[in-house]
Amino acid sequence: MPIGDRDLDGIIDVENSRLLSTYRKFGVVAVKGKGSYLWDAGGRRFLDFMGGYGVAIVGHSRREVIDAIEDQAERLIICHNTLYNPTRAKFLEELFKVVPRNMSAAYMANSGAEAIEAAIKIAVKATGRSLFVAAKGSYHGKTIGALSLTWGPRYKEHFSKLLLDVHFVEYGDPKSLEDAPLEDAAAIFLEPVQGEAGVRIPTREFMTSAERRCRKAGCLLVIDEIQSGLGRTGRMWAHEHWGISPDVMTIGKGIAGGIPMGVTVVSSDYADVLRLGEHTSTFGGNPLASAAAAAVLRVIEEEDLARNAERMGHRFSRGLEGLEGRFRIPREHRGLGLMAALDMRLRIQEVIPRMISNGLISTYSGLRTLRFLPPLIVDEDDIDTSISILDTTFGAIEREKRSM
Ligand SMILES: Cc1ncc(COP(=O)(O)O)c(C=O)c1O
Repeated sequence: MPIGDRDLDGIIDVENSRLLSTYRKFGVVAVKGKGSYLWDAGGRRFLDFMGGYGVAIVGHSRREVIDAIEDQAERLIICHNTLYNPTRAKFLEELFKVVPRNMSAAYMANSGAEAIEAAIKIAVKATGRSLFVAAKGSYHGKTIGALSLTWGPRYKEHFSKLLLDVHFVEYGDPKSLEDAPLEDAAAIFLEPVQGEAGVRIPTREFMTSAERRCRKAGCLLVIDEIQSGLGRTGRMWAHEHWGISPDVMTIGKGIAGGIPMGVTVVSSDYADVLRLGEHTSTFGGNPLASAAAAAVLRVIEEEDLARNAERMGHRFSRGLEGLEGRFRIPREHRGLGLMAALDMRLRIQEVIPRMISNGLISTYSGLRTLRFLPPLIVDEDDIDTSISILDTTFGAIEREKRSM
C-alpha cells in the first residue's frame, strides 16, 4: 500500500530499512516548513534552530524563492554549461556584487563537498604541489578529497588509503602554523568559524598569520564559508571579521534556499588555472538552482539579514548565558551571530529528544554540545521562545535527576 503523509510508522520504517543508516535520526516526520518553523505529520509545530543544517537562511518555503523556482520550472529546468542561460548569468551578476572584491570567477556545483573538490584541484594545478594543510576540528565534507581535509578521525578510519596527504594544525594556534609545511603545500583550507567542532571562533592573530604564511610560502588560502557564510555570523562572510583576503572561497548550504548548490569562487590570480574540460558537472549551475540562489541573495541584501543575525545572535547569547546561571546542565556557550553552541554536562541523547518534544529542534556537535543554526530571519519572539524551551527542558531534566 502506498504511504500516506500521516502514516508515521510506515514512513519511519521505510526510511530506516531503505536508506543506508549513516544519519542519526531524531524521530520527527517533517511535512511542512514556513519561516523559522517546521510542522510534523500530526500538525505539531517546532521552532527550527537546526534550520535544515544551516540551509534555511531565508526561512523555509520563502515566498520569493518559491516564486523564482516556479517561474523557472515553467521555462527551463536544466541547461548544461555548454549552453548559455540568462538565469545563470543573472545569479552570477548578483553573486559578484556580494563576494570579496578580489574574486573574479566561479565554478558552480551541487554541494559543499563538491565546491571543496574544485578548490583542491585549482590549488594543485596552480602550485604543482599535492600536500595540504587544514585544521584539527575542521569539517569540509565527506567526498574523498573533502574528507581528507576534514579532521574527524572516526569518519576516516576505513578510508585512509584513499586520502590526500594533509598536515593538520591546531585551530587558533599561530605557533602551530609556524611549524606547518606551507612551503610544500598547495593550499591551507580553513573555516573562519568551525561549526562541526562546536562553533570554535579563532583569534584574528591566527587567521592573519595564516594569510601571511600563505603569501610567503606561495600556497593558496582557501576559506570555507559553506556554513559560516551568507550573513550567518553577522557579516556577509565570516572571514570579514578577521580582515583577511582568501584566494579561493567555498559557498554552499543556504545559497539556493534548499535547492542543492555549491560554489567555488576564485580570485583573479587563479581564475584561469583550470582549463577546458578539467572540471565539469552535469547539474552545476542549472537554471532552477540559479533562480533560487538569485532570489536568496536578493532577500539577504534587501532585509540586511547579516545585521539581523548579529542582533538576534546577541539576544540568543544573553539567553544562553542566563541558562548557565540558572541550571547545572549548560557548561559554556559560544557564538558569532546566529552560529551558536552550548556545551553541556549531559549527553545530547539525554537532552535533544526532550527539547524536541518541547518544540525546539537543533543540531549538535560531538557528544555533549548543542549547535544552533537558525534561519537568519528569526525575530525577538523566536529567540525568547527558544530560550524558554531550553529553560523548560533543563528544568524538567534537573528536577527528575534530583528526585532520583
Ligand atoms: C564548513 C563546511 N564545509 C563543507 C561542508 C560540506 O557540505 P555538503 O554537506 O553540502 O557536502 C559542510 C557541511 O556541513 C560544512 O559545514
